[in-house]
Amino acid sequence: MPLKAELHCHIEGAAAPDLVIRQAQKYGKDTSPYIQNGSFVWHDFTSFLAAYDFSADLFRTEEDYARLADHYLTSLARDGAIYSEVFTSPDHATKAGLSPKAYTDALGEGMLRAKAKTGIEGRMIVTGVRHVGVESIERAARFAARCGHPLVAGFGVAGDERMGDMEDYVRAFEIAREAGLGITIHAGELTGWETVAAALDHIRPSRIGHGVRAIENPDLVRRIADEGVVLECCPGSNIALKVFDSFADHPFPALRAAGCKVTLNSDDPPYFWTSLKREYDIAAQHFAMNEKALASVTRTAIEAAFVDRKTKATLLARLNGATR
Ligand code: ADE
Ligand code: ZN
Repeated sequence: MPLKAELHCHIEGAAAPDLVIRQAQKYGKDTSPYIQNGSFVWHDFTSFLAAYDFSADLFRTEEDYARLADHYLTSLARDGAIYSEVFTSPDHATKAGLSPKAYTDALGEGMLRAKAKTGIEGRMIVTGVRHVGVESIERAARFAARCGHPLVAGFGVAGDERMGDMEDYVRAFEIAREAGLGITIHAGELTGWETVAAALDHIRPSRIGHGVRAIENPDLVRRIADEGVVLECCPGSNIALKVFDSFADHPFPALRAAGCKVTLNSDDPPYFWTSLKREYDIAAQHFAMNEKALASVTRTAIEAAFVDRKTKATLLARLNGATR
């Protein structure tokens, strides 16, 4: 089994249907509009977000979040992952009744529990949500910058790309950058290559969430390769959301062949019937990637990780030891 590393997974989106059902029973909520036959129900990005927001709202206490992070990172480790960055969302926590600090501390506690059991190293990327608005994104950036949690390593923006402009987020990212946080932003998933170009122009991230629709513009693909910007690719998510029709149409191999730094990620695994392990299996099956190529994807992810140099060296040594 190849060693794996994940850079792009929304922690609320990692809650499996059976866990969400248990949470709903705890809080007296009916899951039937959103979960049927053990599977999340949605038909487009908007209805996906509705199911996601409903489920996120069922995680309300510190222990709920600690258990969620522990579950997810432990399952990742069992699938061969040695490193995990998860997106956190203070907005979702606040809506569910928990302060951003209590939420972050609880997720951190869950990550440490998983590390104690399995050795998996975890970090958090605080995110703002585009469709909630610029003000809340800046609030999230300020929180990320001042929270001081040792596992908070980055700042990002997710949510509905069809709303807002990259220019709107410049100030939030300046706050995060000033605080020494790693920078990533979702672009080129639901909207075309232009949002990826705008992200590079205005936000200057070292990584882009998805970014796959850069493939629509060869000059932009060249720029991504030349600048060494890392793409957090999530093929299973893209096919589920119909960004591309099939894995045969997915640009992962073309981006890689063009010299772009690409990684494999699960995004919101149970919503898209995937897992990090399945993403590596997809790459093996549909993108003709052998063990060596998959190990190089893991290496790219660790090199791009928002983690201190010493931990990065330890992770790379683990990877090199396994692939030697
Ligand atoms: N939030 C959770 N999943 C997302 C996705 N795939 N794209 C944008 N925002 C998200
Ligand atoms: Zn995402």
